[in-house]
Parts: sequence; C-alpha cells; structure tokens
Amino acid sequence: MKRRLLLFAASLQVLSSEGATHGPICQWHDDPCTTMAVHWIESQVEGLEGPGSWESSGGTFAGSENNLLALRRGIDFPSRLGGKALAVVEIARGISMRVYLDGKEVGRSSSDGAMVEFPVPPDFEGKRALLGILLEGTAVGLGNKVAGPRVTLCHGGNNVSLCDRTTVWNYSRDLPLNPLWKQVPPLERLLAPGSEFLFAYRKVGDSGWHGAKLLSRPFGPTAHRVHSVDLKNLLPDSRYGFMILWRGQVVGSWFFETAPSSFREGMSFVTGGDMYHTREMLDGMNRRAGTEAPLFALLGGDLAYANGVDGNRWLEWIESWTECAISPRGTLIPMIPVIGNHEVRGAAYRPTNAPPRAAAPFFYSLFLGMEDGSKFVVDFGDYMTVIALDSGHTQNVAPQTPWLREALEERRAFPYKFVCYHRPAWGTGVKGDAQEIQRAWCPLFEQHGVDAVFENDHHTYKRTHPLTAGKRDEVRGVVYLGDGAWGVRTRDVGASVKQQRPFLAHAESANHLIKVVLGEDQILYEAITAAGRRIDVSERKVRP
Ligand SMILES: [Fe+2]
Repeated sequence: MKRRLLLFAASLQVLSSEGATHGPICQWHDDPCTTMAVHWIESQVEGLEGPGSWESSGGTFAGSENNLLALRRGIDFPSRLGGKALAVVEIARGISMRVYLDGKEVGRSSSDGAMVEFPVPPDFEGKRALLGILLEGTAVGLGNKVAGPRVTLCHGGNNVSLCDRTTVWNYSRDLPLNPLWKQVPPLERLLAPGSEFLFAYRKVGDSGWHGAKLLSRPFGPTAHRVHSVDLKNLLPDSRYGFMILWRGQVVGSWFFETAPSSFREGMSFVTGGDMYHTREMLDGMNRRAGTEAPLFALLGGDLAYANGVDGNRWLEWIESWTECAISPRGTLIPMIPVIGNHEVRGAAYRPTNAPPRAAAPFFYSLFLGMEDGSKFVVDFGDYMTVIALDSGHTQNVAPQTPWLREALEERRAFPYKFVCYHRPAWGTGVKGDAQEIQRAWCPLFEQHGVDAVFENDHHTYKRTHPLTAGKRDEVRGVVYLGDGAWGVRTRDVGASVKQQRPFLAHAESANHLIKVVLGEDQILYEAITAAGRRIDVSERKVRP
C-alpha cells in the first residue's frame, strides 16, 4: 500500500515527493497466544537526504569547517500582495549569500552586501514557498556562531516580517549537499519532529481502540525507517483489528489472529525458504500460503535476496507478503523469520567463521526478538515449540549446540517439536551437506525426539526418511524436509539421487511450500505448489 507525501503542496510549483509505507507484516518472536509484533517501513525517496543530515534550530547556528551553511524553511506569503512586492533577506556582514525560492536562485550577495532583494510575483499570493539560503565565508567557519537571517516582505507600502533572528530553520553543515536540497526537502517533518504514525488496535467485537507504543529505527543503512509495535497482553485464539494512521489519516486497516493456548485438532502452519527471485514467483507462493489459512508461516531464510545491501528488495518482499499472504478469513499471516545466507553481505555461509550480525543489517533492523542473534524459540502454550537456528550466517554452528541442548531439555514435555534453519544437513546433493550440523545438532534432534527439521537453501524439494545418524530409522528417526524453493528458480535433482542418497524418501525439482497439519495422533506434511497441487504427502505418528 502506498501513500504519497505532498511536500509544499500549496506552493506555486507543486513539489511532491514519492514516499511510501510498506507493510505491515506480523511477526511472532514472543508468546504467540498473547503477543504480536507488527512492522512497517516508511521509505524515503532515493536521492533525498536521510534523517540526520538536516536539523532544526532557531537563533544562532554553529559554523562548519567548510565555511558553508545551508538554511531552508517554508515561507507563507499573504493572501494579497500589494504593489510590487519585494522580499529582503538580511544576514550579518562578512557572509556572502545565495537565495533560492522554490529551488530557483533569486539573488546573491557578496560578503560586504549581506542583503538580497528579490521580487515576489503576484501568483505567490496565499502560497507557501520554500526559501533556501546558502551562506558562505570564514564568518560561517568552524567555531563561529551565525545569527539567523531576517526576511522582510515589502508590499503596498508596508514592511512585514516573515522571519526574525529567532525563527526556526532547517540547517545543514553536512556537505556536500544533495543537489535537491533547495527543492524538495523533508522540511515539514523536520520542523515538527516526533512520530507522525499512530497505531490503534482492538479485539474484534470490542468498541474501544487501544494505542500502542511505536518503536522506530533506521532500516539498515538506508534513509528508510522501520516502525513497529510489540503488542502484549492479547487474548489467545482471538481476532484483532488494527489501523495505522499517518498525520491523522488512515493509511489502512488489517486483521490478525492470536494462537490458541491449547492444542486444537487440525491446526496448521506453512514453512519454506528461498522466497524471492521474481515478484511473480514470490506473489504466487505467498498467495498459496494465505489460501492454506495457516496459523503462521515459518520462513527459513533467503527471504528478500538482498545480500545485506539492497534495501529496496526488502520493500518489495514486505509488500508482497502484505498483499498476498492473506487468509480466507482476511487476516495477515504472522511470520517466524529465520536467517539465511542471502540476508548477509557476501551471501555468507561460514559455519565455523560466521560474519557478525552487522553483516545482515536489514534482517536485524526489521525483526524483533533477536538480541541474541538468530537462534530463538517460539513456544505455543505447552503443546508446540518452534526452534530457529543460524546455520553459519551470523553465528557459528557448533557454539549454538549448548543453547540448543538446553532449549530442547526444557521442552521435553512438548508433544510437537519443530526446528528450522537454512543450510541442509541432509540435502539433495546440489550442494554439499552441512557436516557441522550433522555433527553438532542432529544427535540432539534424535535424542529429544524432534518431529521434523525444516531445511532450505538448495532450491529443490526433498523429504528424508526418518533418520538416525543419517540412516533410515522408522521408530526413532527424525524427518528432514526442505529444501528452499518458495519463489526461486529450482535446481535439477539427478534422476538417480535416491540411489546415491538412500536417506531421501522423495526428491524433485519443484517450487513448493510445506504445510504441516497437526493431529492428535499424527502429523501430516504436504508439499504444495503455488497452484495448490500436492506433490508429496506423508504422515508421521505423534511420538508417545
Ligand atoms: Fe541460501
């Protein structure tokens, strides 16, 4: 959903800037029965300054080491301009000045003049225009204090003050300036700081709306901002409606549902990774995810394929989820996101030498609950646990093992246990198997009776037999499903792959998501294409 920001819409030239709100998306990182995190991104037009390069102040301004200082603000002209209207801009002596009105230079002065006059045409009557002033000279050098300019309008025999020495201006010493600085600034926003978004929510059927505290931060290294609410104390198994407002206008309204606090026959979730080569592929499978009406989506890495550098791919990925992953009941599908190599600069898979989390700036600035990295647990009441691990993208594999052991021991009594990470331990051979994972984690999955492990990354479909130490074990073995072909071009699986890799029960080259349906006695796993075709269906008894 997009919104258009009109900056200085009332000025002679309607200067507009394409800004947009992307999302919202829902995430579970805490108790899914009583919480919901909601995120959206406010994008900035590429080429405009990011937050931080301009500040607002009145009175005096500190000089810069470049001997340059830029000022700008909106000027409201009166509804009638009498006679030949002239605007006069004055600054202290010793400073030269260039003056711009709506981006056009209207005059300049040398340092001994310190005054610029320019005519204001009648068509500026009742309009707001952007006045930009570039000050130059040693008097605006480092260590100097520069008094603000005075702006006077002379018309119809009267002198009207438009700005005095205390007027608040946007100012910047952050040089070189963006060439658009004097044309389309985010001036209104900087002159009225504070969040312009509001979030309101209520349980469907309730009359009153609740507000929620907004958490805002930069989106990775971009000028875009992530805004979130982290809702707590919700009721389980309940439908909520929420609205996002921007400057008092409704941006949109959506619904989500919380998880039931106890097991319910037939509850389901979907899982898969490697989501976004093209929008068509992403949108198609996201629609399938929504249509299947799962409780949530467990997304196993390689989400936006941004490689830690392309923030705009994340905007597209978010938009697709918001628009397509909608249940037949009209609710947003909450996600549990897991990290993959394409979340990281250089697409790193380094199981013993992982880069720091700073290498995945979008992933970590967008999602909440990852203070300890991308290993975390989401527990559904006391019936289901979902454990996420980082398969060597921002954490090494082996050091996560003690944490995994403790997490599984604490959840010994949970009847349904699932694990998800990105790089397969038992794949289809299109890349090597992650032996570090086979050594460090797989024995724990076996020991603790994990029902299924969801792997990704290989752009194929696979389901293993129940495995113990890589060997078929129908009684105690762990099933591995994957391997990451949500919305990417698939890789070929060799015709003899099952002979070469006898641990595989099914392998093929097909886009899919995996739907997991929980029954009291059995768990159903279905691999489903975007069109809804079941390409592989299997059942596994719930462990006693
Ligand atoms: Fe990958």
